[in-house]
Amino acid sequence: MAAATFAALAALLAALFLWFRSSSKRTVSLPPGPKPIPVLGNIRQLTPKELWIPATQWAKEYGPVTYLHVVGQGLVFVNTPEAASDLLEKRGPNYADKPQLVMVCDLCGCKNMVAFTPYGDQSRRQRRLMHRALGPQSIPNYHPLIESETHSFIRRLLVDSSKWIAHTRRYAGGLTLYVMYGYEPAQMNDPHLTLAEECVDLLANKITGGGGLWPVDIIPALKRLPLWAPGSGFLHKAKVWKAKMEEFVDQPYDYLKSTIKAGTAVPSFCSTLLMEEEREREAEKAMDIDATKVDPAKEAERKKAAELLEFDLKWTANSMYSASMDTTITATMHFVLAMMQHPHVVAKAQAEIDRVVGHGRLPTFSDRKDLPYIEAIMSETLRWASPVPLGLPHRVMEDDVYNGMFIPKGTLIFGNNWAMTRDERIYPNAADFIPERFLEEVDEATSKRRDPRNYVFGFGRRCVALLLIVIYRS
Ligand code: HEM
Repeated sequence: MAAATFAALAALLAALFLWFRSSSKRTVSLPPGPKPIPVLGNIRQLTPKELWIPATQWAKEYGPVTYLHVVGQGLVFVNTPEAASDLLEKRGPNYADKPQLVMVCDLCGCKNMVAFTPYGDQSRRQRRLMHRALGPQSIPNYHPLIESETHSFIRRLLVDSSKWIAHTRRYAGGLTLYVMYGYEPAQMNDPHLTLAEECVDLLANKITGGGGLWPVDIIPALKRLPLWAPGSGFLHKAKVWKAKMEEFVDQPYDYLKSTIKAGTAVPSFCSTLLMEEEREREAEKAMDIDATKVDPAKEAERKKAAELLEFDLKWTANSMYSASMDTTITATMHFVLAMMQHPHVVAKAQAEIDRVVGHGRLPTFSDRKDLPYIEAIMSETLRWASPVPLGLPHRVMEDDVYNGMFIPKGTLIFGNNWAMTRDERIYPNAADFIPERFLEEVDEATSKRRDPRNYVFGFGRRCVALLLIVIYRS
């Protein structure tokens, strides 16, 4: 205990020293924000839940870029589309890094998930894989599957709408499980889906709940607290959560490998890439034969490349699985909430569907262009209740100065899309659910500016599914 207390104290003093040193060097001031208390900074203002609500209040009080710190660890909230474009897009490379948060990455074992991999080789390889799965050429291939899964979802809702949450979970998880691993859940309490739901909830609401920051992220020495020490509750939680997350990454991938081995694998993101790679390896081998001799150096190189691909695939598939399931369930729930609160919107939507689609079939992708009110409802749902209101935290790689404000290296940056989608300049009566706002005739620049898809999918290194959603519309 004494050693741990000493380590924590030493870390605190080091943070204090760094904080004073960096503030004394500065000639420009930090962005404005709520007043910190000495040393501990804004610890009292950082709520572990729904941080986007106070963050949007700070935006109103202090402007487009706001700054807080906790024991010297800076946090910047970027609150307007202009500031997000200037910093996270135009100066993108300086803001593309991801923080290696001790609790999420190290203690809970999520460091290889795409959302948390630092800027570098691994993140580039993972993004390449994701673009192979979700690049413009691949998107139309998903249409038949999405259409048939969506129709089944709607029919299940019609049969028993009281289980709508379970139906939504099966729909969102099932679709991604099939696309990623070729696994089709047969029933509501499918073991893969149950595990995924539990882990996605852990990740979104517990591990990264308050923006992902835990005291141990500010004072890393706390991770060495003995498990019996008071205040070590987070270490106990992390141990359980890490085991769950590992199971979540391994379980569907092991299923996929077993189907490949048995020769029953259906085409999926993982099986296609693994089999492509296998074919390439075999072809390469066949080329350098002198069939009697195998070059051990080349063989070792091939083995290493295959292992690296497996590692990347396993983590990339899991990242897409979890990111897709959480956001799709959240967006669907927000939609249901909005419809329950606004029956007049439901009536208008029903009238449009009856007129365009009729009563004898369900809508398909080809109807989409003729359903502007439905499209407006979807835009308004994304705007009114953004599924990831603060985006994912990025990390500033080098000191920066923006409009006379100093943004230090190592600061965590949040693209506060909740504030942007509540911006009264773009969305009058922003708190209200008004799909009609997207039907007003405006010039191209205004139409682009008011599209919430420009904000709710992040900035710079954005959500990989954006293309999927944008292309759906064309
Ligand atoms: C309404 C639906 C969705 C919303 C609002 C959403 C939003 C976001 C946001 C805000 C980010 C953070 C971007 C940043 O770092 O600034 C993100 C990242 C990500 N999203 Fe989505 N997303 C959605 C659906 C999906 C789907 C369907 C998939 C997979 C098929 C997906 C996969 C990912 C992945 C893998 C990342 C991490 C990318 C990276 O860090 O490089 N998302 N998403």
